[in-house]
Amino acid sequence: MMNQEELKARILELKEKRRAIIVAHNYQLPEIQDLADFIGDSLELSRQAARVEAEVIVFCGVHFMAETASILAPGKIVLLPDLQAGCPMANMITADELREWKKNYPGRPVVCYINTTAAVKAEADVCCTSSNAVEVVNSLENEEILFVPDKNLGSYIQRHTIKKIISWDGFCYVHHQFSSGDIRRSREEHPGAQIWVHPESPPEVIDGADLVLSTGKMVKEARKTNQREIVIGTEEGIIYRLKKENPEKNFYPLKSGSICFNMKKITLNKVYRALESMEPRVTVPPDIRARALGAIEKMISI
Ligand code: 13P
Ligand code: SF4
Repeated sequence: MMNQEELKARILELKEKRRAIIVAHNYQLPEIQDLADFIGDSLELSRQAARVEAEVIVFCGVHFMAETASILAPGKIVLLPDLQAGCPMANMITADELREWKKNYPGRPVVCYINTTAAVKAEADVCCTSSNAVEVVNSLENEEILFVPDKNLGSYIQRHTIKKIISWDGFCYVHHQFSSGDIRRSREEHPGAQIWVHPESPPEVIDGADLVLSTGKMVKEARKTNQREIVIGTEEGIIYRLKKENPEKNFYPLKSGSICFNMKKITLNKVYRALESMEPRVTVPPDIRARALGAIEKMISI
C-alpha cells in the first residue's frame, strides 16, 4: 500500500508518460484539487479539456461532466476514475422522458442545464450553465420555455425573465436541503458576513441570500470582494479552494455536512488506477454527440 506522497508521485509520473491532464471540479476532495492541472466549474472544465494539447483527460468530477468533455474533445481519451460518480440530479430525467414531456408543449424550445446526460442534451435546443442560464433563456424568441431538470434553477431564472418557464421537477439534493432556517442561523452566528448561495438552492434560500452565484462566479467574486466574512451556500468542497486562494478571508458553510457523495468518489487511488489501466473511459455515441454538441455550441454562441 503506497502512502499519499508516493501515490501522488506515481500519478505525476504516469501523467507525463500518458501525456495526460488532470481536471477537477470545485467540489473535489482537497488532495485531488491540489493534484489537478486545472480546477473549475462544470463548463470551464470541459472547455479546458477541449483546449489543451494533452491526449488524455483525467476528469475528476461526475459523469455528465466527463461526457461534456468527450463531446467537446472527441479525439481525446476521457477517463472518469469511478464510473459510479454520477449526478443524481442529471439522472432525474431520461431522453425518453424528455421526448414524452415535450409532446405536451409543441413549439416550446427546451433549455437543458449542463447537469444532464448527453442523451438528454441531444433532445434539447440549447444548453445552459448556472452562470449563463438567464442570458440563454432571454436570448430565445419564444415566450414559453421548457427547462430541465432543476426546478430550483428554473424558478431562479423565472425571477429574471418575463418569459414563462415550465420546469421539470428535478433538484440537487445537496442544495435542495438548504432552508430559510439555515440563513437565519448563519446571520446570527456570523453577524456582518455576506451569504452567497448557488442558484440550485430553493426559492426561500435565494430570498435570504446576499448574492446568488455559480461555483465559478464564487471563486471570482471571492478574489474581488472586500468582504472578509462569507457564508457559502453550496457543496462544502469549494471552501477548501476559497480558503487556499484567499487566506485572509473566512468562509463558513451555510450548513455543515453539505456534501455531494458522488463528487467524493474520486480518490487518489482511483486516479492512479485510471492512469495505469487507461480505464474507465467515457465516450458518447456519434449520433448523440452530434446533436448534444449542437445544444452546447448554441449556448457558447450566446
Ligand atoms: P457549477 O460548478 O457549474 O456552478 O455547478 C454546480 C454543481 O452542482 C455541479 O454539479
Ligand atoms: Fe449533481 Fe448536486 Fe452533486 Fe452537483 S452537487 S453533482 S448537481 S448532486
